[in-house]
Amino acid sequence: MSKREFSLSMRDVTKDYDGTRVLDVPELDVKQGEFLSLLGPSGSGKTTSLRLVAGFEAPSAGQIVIDGQDVAQVRAEKRNIGLVFQNYALFPHMTVAENIAFPLQMRSQSPSDIERRVAEALDLVDLAPYRDRNAAQLSGGQQQRVAIARAIVYEPALLLMDEPLGALDRRLRSRLQNELRALHRKLGITIVYVTHDQDEAMSLSDRVAIMNHGKIVQLGRPDALYDSPASLFVSNFLGDNNTLSARIAGADRAELAEGTVIPIPRVRTAVGAAADLTIRPERVRLAAESTGETTKPRFEGVVVDVVSLGAATQYCVQVDGVGALWASVQNSAHAFRGAVGDRVEVGWELDDVHVFPRNTDMLADSSALEDTAKLATADA
Ligand SMILES: Nc1ncnc2c1ncn2[C@@H]1O[C@H](COP(=O)(O)OP(=O)(O)OP(=O)(O)O)[C@@H](O)[C@H]1O
Ligand SMILES: [Mg+2]
Repeated sequence: MSKREFSLSMRDVTKDYDGTRVLDVPELDVKQGEFLSLLGPSGSGKTTSLRLVAGFEAPSAGQIVIDGQDVAQVRAEKRNIGLVFQNYALFPHMTVAENIAFPLQMRSQSPSDIERRVAEALDLVDLAPYRDRNAAQLSGGQQQRVAIARAIVYEPALLLMDEPLGALDRRLRSRLQNELRALHRKLGITIVYVTHDQDEAMSLSDRVAIMNHGKIVQLGRPDALYDSPASLFVSNFLGDNNTLSARIAGADRAELAEGTVIPIPRVRTAVGAAADLTIRPERVRLAAESTGETTKPRFEGVVVDVVSLGAATQYCVQVDGVGALWASVQNSAHAFRGAVGDRVEVGWELDDVHVFPRNTDMLADSSALEDTAKLATADA
């Protein structure tokens, strides 16, 4: 299967149902060959976005441009888009091969072309031995692979997937994630993928668009979103956080609810403003004895809970003057090990603290969000 030129853009796209705005995307450009995920809570507009691109619904306003052409007048079946949804929707009375051949027959391909392409698609999803099985006699994961084969068999330039692995158990999901990643590499196809599973979005995507209330609140590479979230919402949506309630006490200090003043990365927020400070659990360092370090934030505390997860151990530490913090420690040979009741030193790097002035999640336009991002990550 061949790689091909492709572009998809949304411009000032909105969708209203009964006067309620459920989607508002001023600008989105999907790049050729990229794997873009839409990640957000239930009702945030992910499926609606896909339905507009697929052509199942028309936007209330704005343009959807595919390969330079406004597709408003292009019917869904003419858009050359592959679709995979959560409920596989195979034809249960047809064999695997017949299911995969179906879109090719709809496109009046020759029998020899159909034969060749079905064989190729079966190989790609590793289902060649199952070609003559009835679709109804397959496991959930196998059915989902047939659905993927059926969506890619006619070589669409764009594949839209809406929670395609949502109904599968964790182990199967992670296997199919690996297969999807490999398939994407092999085909060079552009994929827009909907999920509300943050690990899935992080592991599969070139870029992730975080959605909330019908808007894209941040768009970027998974590691950039994780390390430099523009808002508390994004930070909490991607991974775990220790969140401390504070007031800005100066350009580089904040006063915690317990009265302790701690150093923070430099901000331009007014003194006295309420803010949330976050520190990722894997950034919280624990040491059994004082390290003598004085330049970094250091505190003392007592271990109050230990959760062993095999590869890592999570410690909850009641930190003097700060409150309860979770630390996640990878279990390497020389890793910190402690037990409930141990007194420990707790520290982190200044840059591991993110500062989110309160109410920034309400900010609507992206310039305001960018300002927040700069504030949150501003260096001294
Ligand atoms: N046909 C419709 N008529 C009225 N409201 C709708 C319709 N389709 C979707 N909505 C509303 O639009 C909003 C966005 O729905 P959408 O299906 O895009 O959410 P989602 O992000 O896919 O959520 P989920 O994770 O639950 O699938 C929701 O509030 C939903 O109720
Ligand atoms: Mg949905």
